[in-house]
Amino acid sequence: MEITAKLILGDCTKELKKLEEDSIDLIFTSPPYADQRKNTYGGIHPNKYVEWFLPISEELSRVLKPTGTFVLNIKERVVNGERHTYVMELILGMRKQGWLWTEEFIWCKKNSYPGKWPNRFRDSWERLLQFNKNNKFKMFQDAVKVPMGDWAKTRLRKLSPTDKIRDESKVGSGFGKNVSNWLGRDKVYPTNVLHLATECNNKNHSAVFPESLPEWFIKLFTEQGDWVLDPFMGSGTTIRVAQKLQRHSIGIEIQPHYYNMVSSEIQPKRYYLLDKKKNRYEINRN
Ligand SMILES: C[S@@+](CC[C@H](N)C(=O)[O-])C[C@H]1O[C@@H](n2cnc3c(N)ncnc32)[C@H](O)[C@@H]1O
Repeated sequence: MEITAKLILGDCTKELKKLEEDSIDLIFTSPPYADQRKNTYGGIHPNKYVEWFLPISEELSRVLKPTGTFVLNIKERVVNGERHTYVMELILGMRKQGWLWTEEFIWCKKNSYPGKWPNRFRDSWERLLQFNKNNKFKMFQDAVKVPMGDWAKTRLRKLSPTDKIRDESKVGSGFGKNVSNWLGRDKVYPTNVLHLATECNNKNHSAVFPESLPEWFIKLFTEQGDWVLDPFMGSGTTIRVAQKLQRHSIGIEIQPHYYNMVSSEIQPKRYYLLDKKKNRYEINRN
């Protein structure tokens, strides 16, 4: 099987228009920060962020398959001592465009170092906003199961009578649980809080996310041979992980320096052999 990584040097506001409609399974990206002071890799003024992003999300909706997912890594800045509202305004704007705001994941940076500010603490989490075009979308929940952990050893050792039946929520939420359902299992579904370290192998870009972040979402929302797009490619983390997981990918980057760096590392095509016994593809090193 041939896996393609297509790298594009250019402005995604223009380059996205050239991509085929309904062709992408997952868009995973971290756009430039809102920044009122400087123009580091195209920082956008917080007051202009929504009007800058909405034409891009319009194009992203065009290229995304009806079964696809868009995951946006973003965090609102503090401006004049308070959190700016551009992320919230963006969500509302995208919903008006027709997107469904399906879910919000929190990336909790578990190795964040301490700091002190006069009126707040260190920012140690970021949002991952999940948008879809439909409420039926591809999702492979088993691909991101986590070890049951020590909770099971203590909690499941001695079950009460209530644990063995469906225990309805006391607050009338309609949710219930049957604790005994977890007996004998070694893996469980994760929550929507992702505890991932911030370390990155790639230090040549100032805003790199760790490989574990796109990896988690690529496994959750795509299967081998699907297409992943990162319109703000940076150092190519999404593209590198997509290729490793045998997904086709497209990355767009406006800065020649980053584009050249990624181009020098990523092979535009890699070949994998289907291992029929394991029913998965293995890399062909020939
Ligand atoms: C926050 S960084 C992405 C970092 C990336 N996730 C990584 O792990 O390296 C945003 C990137 O978007 C690029 N960029 C900014 N405006 C762009 C545009 N209009 N089109 C394409 N790329 C753009 C910047 O040069 C920067 O490398």
